[in-house]
Amino acid sequence: MRVFLIGMMGSGKSTIGRILSSVLDKEFIDMDLEIERARGTSISEIFEKEGEEEFRRLEKNLLKKLIHRDEIVVSTGGGIILDKENRQILKGENAVYLRLPPADLYRRVTVNGRPLLKEGKESIFRIWEERRELYEQFPSVETSSQSRWETVAAISMKIASGESKVLNSSSHPVSISPGGFKSIGRMPNAVVSRRVERIFSEWIPSSALSIDDGEEAKGFHTLFQVYEYLMDRGLSRSDVLVGAGGGTVTDLVGFASSTFKRGIPLVQYPTTLLAQVDASIGGKNGLNFKGCKNVVGNFYMPSETIIDPVVTLSMDEGRFEEGLVEAFKIFLITGQYYEKFKKLCGKLKERNLAALSEMLEEAVKQKDRIVSMDIRETGLRKVLNLGHTLGHLYEPLSGVSHGMAVAWGLEREMHYFAGLGVIDELLYRDVSDTLSEIVGLDFPQLPVEEALRLLRNDKKAVDSESAEIEIPVVKRPGEFEFLKVRLDDLLAVVV
Ligand SMILES: NC(=O)c1ccc[n+]([C@@H]2O[C@H](COP(=O)([O-])OP(=O)(O)OC[C@H]3O[C@@H](n4cnc5c(N)ncnc54)[C@H](O)[C@@H]3O)[C@@H](O)[C@H]2O)c1
Repeated sequence: MRVFLIGMMGSGKSTIGRILSSVLDKEFIDMDLEIERARGTSISEIFEKEGEEEFRRLEKNLLKKLIHRDEIVVSTGGGIILDKENRQILKGENAVYLRLPPADLYRRVTVNGRPLLKEGKESIFRIWEERRELYEQFPSVETSSQSRWETVAAISMKIASGESKVLNSSSHPVSISPGGFKSIGRMPNAVVSRRVERIFSEWIPSSALSIDDGEEAKGFHTLFQVYEYLMDRGLSRSDVLVGAGGGTVTDLVGFASSTFKRGIPLVQYPTTLLAQVDASIGGKNGLNFKGCKNVVGNFYMPSETIIDPVVTLSMDEGRFEEGLVEAFKIFLITGQYYEKFKKLCGKLKERNLAALSEMLEEAVKQKDRIVSMDIRETGLRKVLNLGHTLGHLYEPLSGVSHGMAVAWGLEREMHYFAGLGVIDELLYRDVSDTLSEIVGLDFPQLPVEEALRLLRNDKKAVDSESAEIEIPVVKRPGEFEFLKVRLDDLLAVVV
């Protein structure tokens, strides 16, 4: 497969192309650099000494060679679409136009090394006007309001096949499908995160209800909005409701579908890594009420969960890594894929799609295994609370996100158990190094009094007066137990 990025100078073709090449595991080729290398001179000199015509000839020759290569991402020169034959060739390829208003281009572009701007930067407005219609003959991605990762995700979604692998899961049907998110366009009743709608607008049905997501949205005011939407659309008990967003949206929509008309079919399109490996698997949902997280909720199995790794590419840095921590935790608990995850960690951080798809498939299978052994979370499933005891201290006291707090909590809990000799020092080092590679371990010391107060209120504390708490510990990958530990002792590793 070949991907060609087209667009004006300054539209980010090379930057995006490089990221895209590591996401798609393909070689990156910058046509201008390739021509300079072959000629041993700069584009400006070719323009100056041999003329633009000669440059266009070289460019066309190179394009004709490239379409016989495979597995490449190509950043084309801005003027490649001026030639009719080039346009014809590119229309037969995966060519995507990176669209940016001229004012943005003007701000971004530098004159140096750009022969077409030798009259001054203002020429960009004229060139844009001249080429605009030609560019618009191609599928496009609007890049002005998008982060780099959002642009990469939007391009990847355009070219993803949508091929689907149905997993043999026991709690509810799950499929892994790069590009499968696009099928949401065929679902008329959908509740979609506003951010996700913005990034993947092309695929979202116009009838969808978009909501602000995040913890704030996971409450009754948004739930009523969803019920109103369902009433207005006149949904019957056989109509399917779709949820598309992170864990807050899948939790909210899960609850709405379980209660509307005593339960209507539900299809989930989780869009964050955390939602894909955890929140959307196992049928658990929850709403926040009066400042308490997940205090209202139930268990309700979706008819289908569609996991599309492509959709996660647009996640913000930090958030994405938190999802990786969640997956790592699952592998540590089950012992499956643990070593492979560590080997793939670098590629996963680069958001390499093949690595992501493989990892997601394993994580979903493992989470499903844990869930199916303990659907109503009465025992075994509680092991997923690994790292949460101390994580619940870091989250409010240092103000970091939940995922980061759990990573730090897990590291400190392992440190504590290694100190007691309950787990091997080598395992602790191993886990600590992996967490450090994924999110970094720059945790602060916590204030004693407040940390102790929070620990005493933890629902895992043996009783309200107790000086003990019961927490899960992984003794070896795949082997865990629940141990009672003294609050004072545990506290010592975080204060
Ligand atoms: N039901 C369960 O079993 C379960 C398990 C774990 C967590 N949860 C719940 O999940 C929630 C946390 O989930 P989360 O981390 O996904 O949070 P979230 O839903 O708040 O999403 C995090 C952020 O990512 C953005 N986002 C979503 N998809 C995106 C995408 N594809 N690209 C770019 N940005 C995107 C959202 O707009 C939001 O700002 C918590 O409420 C937690 O209680 C539930």
